[in-house]
Amino acid sequence: MAQTSLNGTILLTRNLTKRFGGVVALDSVSIDVKRNSITLLIGPNGAGKTTFINVCTGVLKPDHGKVIFDSIDITGWPPYKVYSIGFARTFQIPQPFRSLTVLDNVLVAMKSRGENPIRALFKRSWIREEKENIEKAFKILDLVGLDSFWDWEAYKLGAGQLKMLEVARALASGAKLLALDEPIGGTDPGYASRIFERLSKIRSALDVSFIVIEHRIDIALKYADKVYVMDRGRIVANGAPSEILKNPKVAEIYLG
Ligand SMILES: Nc1ncnc2c1ncn2[C@@H]1O[C@H](COP(=O)(O)OP(=O)(O)O)[C@@H](O)[C@H]1O
Ligand SMILES: [Mg+2]
Repeated sequence: MAQTSLNGTILLTRNLTKRFGGVVALDSVSIDVKRNSITLLIGPNGAGKTTFINVCTGVLKPDHGKVIFDSIDITGWPPYKVYSIGFARTFQIPQPFRSLTVLDNVLVAMKSRGENPIRALFKRSWIREEKENIEKAFKILDLVGLDSFWDWEAYKLGAGQLKMLEVARALASGAKLLALDEPIGGTDPGYASRIFERLSKIRSALDVSFIVIEHRIDIALKYADKVYVMDRGRIVANGAPSEILKNPKVAEIYLG
C-alpha cells in the first residue's frame, strides 16, 4: 500500500479520468481537499460531478489516475473498504433501519464493540462503553439537529431529517470525510441554509471534512472554504468562494 505524507490533505486526486464509451465524463481531474474544510463542487448538469464522487468512493473504477485518502492510495478500492477507512458518501451509508429509533440507528452505526460475545463477559466495561456510546450518539444527534427526535422511529422522519440521520450515522461510524451529492435538493432556501450551518458546526466540532456537490451556489457558497468548478469533465476553475464568482469562466457557465 503506497503511503504518502500529506498531513494537511484528507483527499487528493491526480489526473482522474473516466470514460463511458465515447463520453469522457472525467478528464484528468486533480483536486485537493484540506482537512477540516468544506469543499464545494459545482458545475452544470452532466459536468461529471457525480461521476467524480463515484470514482473516488469506489463505486466506479477510473480508467486513469489516482485517489489518495488520508495518505493512503485507495484507487480502485471497493466501496465498503473505502467506507471502512472513513470516507463516506451519503447513498452508500447503509439505509436507516426504518423501525428502529433515531438513537438506535446511530448506535448501530457506531459498531459497538459491546456486541462481541467475548467482551460481553466483561460486563462492567461493556456497560461503561454503552454509556459512552450513548453520550457520543447524543452529541452527534445534537449537531445534526435530531436530538429531540431521538426516540422516534426512523420511518416517521421527513426527507430532510432522514438526510441528517444519514450524516449522523456516517459520523457515528467514524467518517473523516463525507461526500454529499446535492444534500439540499428539494428543500426551501431557509432549510437549505440551516443544513449548511450545521455542516459548518459539525466540521469544527468533530474535525471532519465535507465535499459537497451543489448547484444552489447562492446558498452554498458562503459556507465553503474552497470551490472547484467542473464543466464537461474538467476542472475549469478553483479558488476561494470570493474569487470564484469573479472568474469569467464561471460567469460563462452560469450565465451562458
Ligand atoms: N453509468 C453511466 N453510463 C454512461 N454514461 C454515464 C454514466 N454516468 C454518467 N454518465 C455520463 O457522464 C457524464 C457526467 O455525468 P454526471 O457525473 O452524472 O454529471 P453531473 O453529476 O455533474 O450532473 C454525462 O455525460 C453522463 O451522461
Ligand atoms: Mg450529479
